[in-house]
Amino acid sequence: MLKNFWYALEFADRVGREPAKVTCLGQDFVLYRTAAGAPVCLSDLCVHRGGALSMGTVVGDCIACPYHGWQYDADGACVRIPANPAERLIPRKARVDAYPTVERYGMVWAFLGDLPEPQRPPIPVIPEHDDPVFRMVQFEMEVAANYERTFENVVDAAHTPFVHGTAFGNPDKPEIPEFEVRKDDWSATADIKLSPPPPKGLWGLLAKRKPYRHEYVTVTNAWYLPNIVKLHVRLPIGDLLLYDFNIPLSQDRTLIKILGYRNFFTGAWADANARKRIGKILLQDQPVVENQRPELLPFDLADELHTRSDALQIAYRRRRAQLIKDGWWLGDDDIITGDGPRRTATVIASPARTDNPELASAWVHKARAGKEQA
Ligand code: FES
Ligand SMILES: [Fe+2]
Repeated sequence: MLKNFWYALEFADRVGREPAKVTCLGQDFVLYRTAAGAPVCLSDLCVHRGGALSMGTVVGDCIACPYHGWQYDADGACVRIPANPAERLIPRKARVDAYPTVERYGMVWAFLGDLPEPQRPPIPVIPEHDDPVFRMVQFEMEVAANYERTFENVVDAAHTPFVHGTAFGNPDKPEIPEFEVRKDDWSATADIKLSPPPPKGLWGLLAKRKPYRHEYVTVTNAWYLPNIVKLHVRLPIGDLLLYDFNIPLSQDRTLIKILGYRNFFTGAWADANARKRIGKILLQDQPVVENQRPELLPFDLADELHTRSDALQIAYRRRRAQLIKDGWWLGDDDIITGDGPRRTATVIASPARTDNPELASAWVHKARAGKEQA
């Protein structure tokens, strides 16, 4: 799993004045909004006794821990310890990690890492979000597979005739023509010619009025680090874009959140149908990705076989190898893994630590939970 990226953690309309617990990179975070509406993302682990802040209460711009009521502000600093007399100073180490947080494209994004602002990779641009010709639906589903497996699955054009033969894949035309991959440090994009069968159901009705003249449609597949895939399908009836966020809950569980945009059937009445189509595709992928072995994506490119049609995934694995070299990988020891009786809760360092060199060394926060004390 990669740190030092902006992660879309939750649909923005689900984040309000009630604390919301989210999980990413095997760690728990609490999201809430300040009185002015700004989204906040803090580590969910209270530094006192490891209480879950997400079970607490938002008080003004702060969040109060449910256990002993310590209050943390939006920067993660503890500003109140109710058991202490008012005149006692609050120790500087009493703080939780606070992650830079923004709301964009209907998602709340947090920067999970400790890079200073100028060095942070960008949030990908979703131009359709603010374009009034597009209508958006949200979708989400949890799968028991590693997020890099589900991520690569969406990038992968060659599986559609086999896994999605009854949706948009065409088993009679499995060949993927040569395509070029356009790359930068944070993304890779390819225009791929596919030959899906004409749509059925509601969309098929519209398609009948605009008959398929083309043998193929151009689909743009793109990945954006760390975990987003865009599919842009240019159907004769209009454009369909799926932005697919593969959120690593743990090594082996992924929360897939999708923003689906279409510029046809843009009435609210067609939303349920659009969501149903997305759900159908994900349910077709689910058993495949949940049964891939090894469960985790190999580190060595040579550990699996690749063909020309895997070019986007190869580009990902190469870029990932570079970032691992650069120290951006969170290994098994850095995240909460497994269901064993003993667990260590660690916290991803946020920029608050690097901004504060005095704290950086002293403030190594490791809380232990579970049955260790038993
Ligand atoms: S555990 Fe959070 S205030 Fe004690
Ligand atoms: Fe798929």
